[in-house]
Amino acid sequence: MADHIKTILHPTYLLIFSVGLNMFLIHKFLQQHFTESPVRTVTPSEDKPLENSTILLLWFWPSRKRFDLNSCCSRFNIDGCYLTVDRELYSKAHGVLINHREIKSNLSDLPTKPRPFFQKWIWMHFESPQNTKRLDAVENLFNVTLNYRRDADIVLREQIMIKTEDTEDKIFPQVLDKKDKLVCWVVSNWNEQYERVKYYNELKKHINIYTYGRHFEKAVSNAQYKEILTTCKFYLSFENTANHYDYMTEKIFSPLTLGSVPVALGAPRYIYERFVPKDAFIHVKDFSSPQKLAEHLLSLDKNIEEYKKYFQWRKHFEVKLVNYPEEHVCRACQYIRTKKDYQVFRNLNKWYWDAIKDET
Ligand SMILES: *[C@@H]1O[C@H](CO)[C@@H](O)[C@H](O)[C@H]1NC(C)=O
Ligand SMILES: *[C@@H]1O[C@H](CO)[C@@H](O)[C@H](O)[C@H]1NC(C)=O
Ligand SMILES: *[C@@H]1O[C@H](CO)[C@@H](O)[C@H](O)[C@H]1NC(C)=O
Repeated sequence: MADHIKTILHPTYLLIFSVGLNMFLIHKFLQQHFTESPVRTVTPSEDKPLENSTILLLWFWPSRKRFDLNSCCSRFNIDGCYLTVDRELYSKAHGVLINHREIKSNLSDLPTKPRPFFQKWIWMHFESPQNTKRLDAVENLFNVTLNYRRDADIVLREQIMIKTEDTEDKIFPQVLDKKDKLVCWVVSNWNEQYERVKYYNELKKHINIYTYGRHFEKAVSNAQYKEILTTCKFYLSFENTANHYDYMTEKIFSPLTLGSVPVALGAPRYIYERFVPKDAFIHVKDFSSPQKLAEHLLSLDKNIEEYKKYFQWRKHFEVKLVNYPEEHVCRACQYIRTKKDYQVFRNLNKWYWDAIKDET
């Protein structure tokens, strides 16, 4: 039976059918075989009526990454979303998602037609404010923010989750035997003005650091990156900014996932502790100088019982990673579908780019 259908659906075989039947089968064939295609814009079918769907228009592919626009339901269990990159659907779209990275120095690339009353514009951005230029023109333009900050409308970030039951730690102590290096760092984006570079230059005077990444002309593959993290006791989770709320990246979540202890340089400790158990990482500011930090790391190298304490959190918690940008886009659609209130986001520039104020 299956073979029979395959034969009928074979494109060359289709040609001998009557025109009407041909059209029908080609339509079916395309529907069945190309719904997984990463670049295709789906057309509404009778199974998934556009009229009852929430239409989210991706004005740009976020970070130019193309992906399957049909996977919100299968991957994230989000129903009723119709994602598209077809700008012709602008006037019907309930939401327009604009990734900040793709906005040039002015708004000339953004929609120019009047915005329908029901449509919300979503500002999406996951880069560091340090590396993003302020753009005055984005003020009072967006309705919804999609960001790593916990006070964004839609928050997407790696999370530490409570385990449903205490399960055995799959990483530790299994990785302990593999650890033949004390401190490692992978870095590509090098800037002498960055706090992290200044700190590294001091730290390396007191402890041996295994360095990798483009800056050291040792680019690493994903597999090598994992290997490095698994075989190092400590990893330098040095962010490019220490001045912005809630900004922390895979630089801390990857070592937490793979069983290395992160040494965080970035936001103040109290901000890290919003997201990561306090005994899961070391913060450079826990020490009065790079030398003092080096001494601490060297002492932990000799005292395995003390080192193991950094893994206790794993008994009760686990890391949940997010899938950029698929999950972000699907969550945006879910938000537009469920939240119907009128809203405008003001002061985007101030909110996103202003530095952390000291907490007293
Ligand atoms: C859309 O939803 C309405 C109300 O639930 C329903 O009556 C209608 O049949 C749906 N349209 C399609 C094409 O499924
Ligand atoms: C906007 O930027 C584009 C290039 O990115 C440029 O060609 C255009 O002249 C600019 N428009 C305005 C109004 O500044
Ligand atoms: C979205 O924001 C714009 C202003 O930025 C506003 O004019 C519009 O009415 C808002 N729409 C909704 C649905 O909240």
